Amino acid sequence: MSIQTLFSSAAPVLSLAPMQDVTDLPFWRLMARYGGADLYFTEFFRVTPHYHPERSILRSITENPTGRPAVAQIIGNDLEAMARTAKALEKHPVAAVDLNLGCPAPVVYRKCAGGGLLRDLPRVDELLGVLRAAITGSFTVKTRLGFADPSEFDALLEVFSKHKLDLLTVHGRTVAEKYGPHVHLDRIAQAVRHLPFPVQANGNVTSAESAMETLRATGAAGLMIGRGAIRNPWIFQQIRDRLAGRDLKLPSGRDVLGYIVALYESACDADVPEKAQVQKMKKYMNFLGDGLERSAEFLHDIRRCSTRIEFFAICESHLDHDRPMPLETAPAGQP
Ligand SMILES: Cc1cc2nc3c(=O)[nH]c(=O)nc-3n(C[C@H](O)[C@H](O)[C@H](O)COP(=O)(O)O)c2cc1C
Repeated sequence: MSIQTLFSSAAPVLSLAPMQDVTDLPFWRLMARYGGADLYFTEFFRVTPHYHPERSILRSITENPTGRPAVAQIIGNDLEAMARTAKALEKHPVAAVDLNLGCPAPVVYRKCAGGGLLRDLPRVDELLGVLRAAITGSFTVKTRLGFADPSEFDALLEVFSKHKLDLLTVHGRTVAEKYGPHVHLDRIAQAVRHLPFPVQANGNVTSAESAMETLRATGAAGLMIGRGAIRNPWIFQQIRDRLAGRDLKLPSGRDVLGYIVALYESACDADVPEKAQVQKMKKYMNFLGDGLERSAEFLHDIRRCSTRIEFFAICESHLDHDRPMPLETAPAGQP
């Protein structure tokens, strides 16, 4: 299904955010089992001058298990390599190629890629022009509001409006704000009003309620959800239920435990040593743990365990119950 068809429907499109080392093929498969997103973004392909797309990320596209369209995200600033990689990715079944203009990791932005490009708008303009000319299908962009100050977004919007994009996802923070508590929904609303193509809102959608609030405040055509989906894989279905006026189904503690078991089984290869598997699970638990009742205690214990048995004993001691779990977190203090 094309991006145009997807975004022509009246219902808001729900996307799974790209998250490096998290949203790989097994994770997509698991999300789809829990109701899933309408649209899936790959982890970024980090493009350098002699780059060839990594097989591991390509697999998400070539073996896409979700039954939904996939968008291939690229990050980099070498014009020739970016255009070449975009064309190479278009040979695979992708609904769009997406440019990352938001990564706040210093190792990326110091090289003037991702969020770093937002300090150089002429370069953004040039890159958008080169990619628009190279990509024959849909071309989408995921951006933050600016590098240091949300007011930078005014000039950035002028740059975006010069190019025929098929979708803009706005993460409503600056690079400097990293994952701080506040998402500037008013700036996302500004993009919705200003641009002739669909705009998707991103940042701190952690529940059906916050999804409704983000849609109301921005008028966006879609929502992109990242950490909220790691914490609560039911979130996409919960939002659909809320939009349709149906009662919300909250998972029980045991349902969440079942999700953690499924995550362990799907995310961990049989040939990876147990200690490394537990380490990988700790990464997911950093997000999931935030939404539990005794969150600090859970995270404290999880960070200290090293075997599969210890890991699941801690999970069971917190989750072997039938009480409904909102899996909500306070937005402040996110990673
Ligand atoms: C672990 C992790 C990895 C991420 N990797 C990417 C990435 O590869 N590309 C990208 O555009 N954004 C990446 N992001 C940012 C998310 O896509 C999203 O914009 C951000 O988490 C805010 O949305 P949320 O509040 O729903 O999590 C990453 C975020 C996290 C937490």
